[in-house]
Amino acid sequence: MESKEEAGFSFSSPLPLSSSTRWWSKETVAVVTGSNKGIGYAVVKRFAELGLTVVLTARDVGRGNKATETLREQGLRNVHFFPLDVSSPASINAFVSWLRTTFQVLDILVNNAAVSFNEIDENSVEHAETVLRTNYHGTKLLTESLLPLFRPSTSVSRILNISSRLGSINKMRNLGIKATLQKENLTEQEIEQVVEMFAEDVKKGRWESRGWPEIWTDYSVSKLALNAYSRVLAKRFENEGVRRRRISINSFCPGFTRTSMTGGKGTHTPQAAAQLAASLALLPPQHLPNGTFFLGFGPYNNSRL
Ligand SMILES: NC(=O)c1ccc[n+]([C@@H]2O[C@H](COP(=O)([O-])OP(=O)(O)OC[C@H]3O[C@@H](n4cnc5c(N)ncnc54)[C@H](OP(=O)(O)O)[C@@H]3O)[C@@H](O)[C@H]2O)c1
Repeated sequence: MESKEEAGFSFSSPLPLSSSTRWWSKETVAVVTGSNKGIGYAVVKRFAELGLTVVLTARDVGRGNKATETLREQGLRNVHFFPLDVSSPASINAFVSWLRTTFQVLDILVNNAAVSFNEIDENSVEHAETVLRTNYHGTKLLTESLLPLFRPSTSVSRILNISSRLGSINKMRNLGIKATLQKENLTEQEIEQVVEMFAEDVKKGRWESRGWPEIWTDYSVSKLALNAYSRVLAKRFENEGVRRRRISINSFCPGFTRTSMTGGKGTHTPQAAAQLAASLALLPPQHLPNGTFFLGFGPYNNSRL
């Protein structure tokens, strides 16, 4: 499979979700991580309005319950809550067991939870370990743990990774690492090694001179690794899909969106970003790509993240 990540696929208006393209029902189960606020919350709301069964997850029980109650009070009774901290293997385990017992299957996973500790114009790596553990390692562990639960279905199960164009391969200035990540036969182990290398550069205080991405460096590396993992996973399922279940894995950059992560700055609302994300996650099976990196809201210069 050829990587479409570098070029990206620009995507700026929600697809019409008409009855002729509607493949899902109230039995369709979607999980959205980090969905007590921001883009994740808006994706849950959109899915619920469209009639799916949605699991809102949050690392904080109070914030998760409050968000769920708000949606249920709006008549969206198809929203359920379970706590999930993607940076904690124990929390992932508890969540996966609950999902297995409660719904048995999963159709859609939106990996949305992420952190950045920088203000827009800052570039500290003080929290690099937490950023990598949450945005990359945790997202990967959750994904791998949920793979056995995906429903074998002609509608094709889906994973949508909410990523960032800051993690595009063209942000990588170290040519050796860039070449590794661009390899056609890139392995998960090689991605882990790249992440390890960055963690080591941070620890040794030499990360600034080693050609890592220049903006929000720790966050960008976490998304770079997530994008690479998405590509490898998509390829794994392209091969496995013929014999076994089909799962499509794509990434989406929502563009510069007004959320807590950006201190409320941005070119558009979380609702607008979520409309696009939901449209992508709900593409009819015959139009659903695999291994594609979608850029929301046009070219890079419209967006800081
Ligand atoms: N906003 C942008 O301009 C922009 C641009 C490109 C990509 N993105 C991506 O879009 C996604 C959503 O971000 P956002 O802008 O909506 O930011 P946000 O408002 O800060 O929301 C982030 C969500 O992730 C949750 N979270 C953080 N750490 C977690 C953990 N360990 N386990 C579970 N949940 C956790 C947060 O929970 P708490 O409330 O507990 O903190 C919150 O619900 C992220 O993947 C981000 O990288 C955003």
